[in-house]
This record gives sequence, C-alpha cells and structure tokens, in this order.
Amino acid sequence: MSAVPVERVDDLQAYAESAAGCTRCRLAQGRTQVVFGAGNSRAELMFVGEAPGFHEDKQGLPFVGQAGKLLEKLLAGIGLERSDVYICNVLKCRPPGNRDPQPDEIEACESHLFRQIELIEPTVVATLGNFATKLLSGRPLGITRVHGQEQQTTLGGRSVVLYPLYHPAAALYTPAMLKVLESDFARLPELLGRALVPPEPELALVAEPAQPPAEQLGLF
Ligand code: URA
Repeated sequence: MSAVPVERVDDLQAYAESAAGCTRCRLAQGRTQVVFGAGNSRAELMFVGEAPGFHEDKQGLPFVGQAGKLLEKLLAGIGLERSDVYICNVLKCRPPGNRDPQPDEIEACESHLFRQIELIEPTVVATLGNFATKLLSGRPLGITRVHGQEQQTTLGGRSVVLYPLYHPAAALYTPAMLKVLESDFARLPELLGRALVPPEPELALVAEPAQPPAEQLGLF
C-alpha cells in the first residue's frame, strides 16, 4: 500500500484541470491546448523541459516527438519508463514556431511549475536545457557550465536534488552532446539512491549481534 496520501494525486489532477484554461500570457491565443505534464504523480524523479513543440501541442502531452523518443531511450537505459517519472516543461503552452520562451512568459507560467513540484514532491528534479536549469537553480549559469552537477536546493518548500542535463533535442543533432547526456543520465540512479536513503543514524553503526546460522533456527 502506498504511503502517499490520495489527496496529493487528486490535487494534482484538480490543479491540471484549472490550469487547462490558463490565460496568463499571450501563448494562450495560439495553443491547441495546455500541455500540463504527464507521468507518475508520485514520482521520485521529475524532468522539466522547455516548452511544448508542435506534436506536444497537438497531443496535449510533453515530449512526444523525436526528443521524447530519445528521452524514453535514455530512461530505458537506467531501467525506467515514462510511467515511472513525471515529465513537464517550464512553459505549458507552445510558443509560435517553437521560438524560445520569453521572460514574461516564464514569469507568468512559473507558479504552475512550482505548484507541480509541491504536489508531486520529487526527490530529484532533472532540468533539461538552459531554460529549466536557469529558472530552477535561480542562477544565470548556462547548461554547458553546470550539466551533470547536482545541487541540493529548496523547491516547492522541500529540499530536492536539482540535476541539470542537456536538452535531448539539442543532443539529437550533436553526437558529442549525446555522449555527455548519456553519461550524466547514468548517474541518476545514484542520485535517486542518495536522495532516497537517509544517512544511517549513529545507533545503526553499533554492530548487531550475529544471527545464528540458518541450520540452527529450528532450535528457537
Ligand atoms: N521539448 C521540450 O522542451 N518539451 C517538450 O515537451 C518537447 C520538446
């Protein structure tokens, strides 16, 4: 049985429904639909990309194009599927012609992302590319400088590991970047383990009395 309160899932669903009608910025006019996010609402690992593209806007799901295929392949490489993680973007609506998000659009949209993080309560947030990395790290350092460097930070009122990665769309066309993305990705299980397993309490360091050998168990 899960220890996660059911309300958390319901709250995320309710929040997604309220965000579906968002008109906080100009992108509302050109979108087919809001692409809120998808995946496991109790995920330990959350990915944050940039913004929906053509296919995402049509289907209402994040990362369903070529970049999404690569993301799925990278996930499979560490034994995970889309349904194990939660995937969303900084912007929930497609910018026209897939242009870069503009500062006022990010500002208008960011509280949707912060609320998602608050409700999902991930332990690791992997940012894909510059926009997500700069927004969630609160620093201007670009992805080339900070990829693969985890950082403990507070998001959604909780301590999380922020882990910047190259954006899969960029890695699709640059083999050297893909290699780096693959090796950064390979550290995710370690980060999840580190985030999940709390440090051993001092008492646990005291040696436990040895267990009797299995063949003696019948004696007790
Ligand atoms: N690129 C993104 O950043 N997000 C998507 O959903 C798809 C492509």
